Order: sequence, then C-alpha cells, then structure tokens
Amino acid sequence: MNARPSALALLAAALVALSLPAQAADVAAAEALAKKSNCMKCHSVAAKKEGPSFKETAAKYKGKGDAEQKLVVHLTTSPKVKVDGKDEEHDNLKTKNEADVKNVVQWILSQ
Ligand code: HEC
Repeated sequence: MNARPSALALLAAALVALSLPAQAADVAAAEALAKKSNCMKCHSVAAKKEGPSFKETAAKYKGKGDAEQKLVVHLTTSPKVKVDGKDEEHDNLKTKNEADVKNVVQWILSQ
C-alpha cells in the first residue's frame, strides 16, 4: 500500500491555503463564540442595536495599530459601558482561550 499523500492532494491543500487572506479569522468559530457569549443580543455585523455594529467598530479602529489589543481588553475585562443610559458591565467572551478571543477580535475588525 502506498501511504504517501499524492502530489495532487498536496497541491490542492497548498492552493486552498494560498487562497485565504493573510490574517483570516476563522469566521465560523468567531460567529459561534459570539453567539454563545450572547454578543449578538446587543450587536450585529451591519446594524446598530444596543451596541455599535461590528462594521462601525471596524471603521472606528481602521488603521490603528493598537486596535486588536484594545478590543481584547474590552472583551476580557468587563469594562463599564452605558446600556440604555445605565452603567452596565460589558459582557466578556465566554472562553479562557486567548487565541479564541483574538480570533473574534480579528473577525470584528475585518467587517
Ligand atoms: C447588554 C448589551 C451588550 C452585550 C451583551 C454585548 N455588548 Fe458589546 N457593547 C455594548 C454597548 C452599549 C457598547 C458601546 C460601549 C461604548 O461605546 O461605551 C458596546 C461596545 C462593543 C464594542 C466596541 C468597543 C470599542 O472600543 O469601540 C465591541 C467590539 C463589542 N461591544 C463587542 C461585543 C462582543 C464580542 C460581545 C459578546 C462577548 C458583546 N459586545 C456583548 C453592548 C453590549
């Protein structure tokens, strides 16, 4: 039996990898974690709800080098925000995995 991967399979894998944008977030994982963390109760990608849309946030941070760091802090330290005029603690992402937090942040910033 020949256990080596075929050259064609390797080429196909390489092409798939190349077709992804450089800093692609894992969109499906980001959306799943945002849903699980109830983010979409107050946010949506394109429309303003209680909180700004993710497109709005991406535009606000466009070209700012510390964007990722700021949003990681925002989504892990329960900062106080105004919801309906009242001070509330902003929800954290429901994960302890820093890579998962960064993935959601990159997804938001890529909107
Ligand atoms: C109870 C409603 C509510 C929930 C739930 C919520 N947010 Fe927010 N979020 C807000 C509000 C209100 C603001 C605006 C805060 C401000 O501008 O002071 C905000 C701001 C933000 C911002 C912009 C921060 C910035 O620096 O501009 C991001 C990104 C964000 N939220 C992501 C999330 C994610 C991801 C989740 C899930 C873990 C989440 N939010 C859950 C209400 C909510």
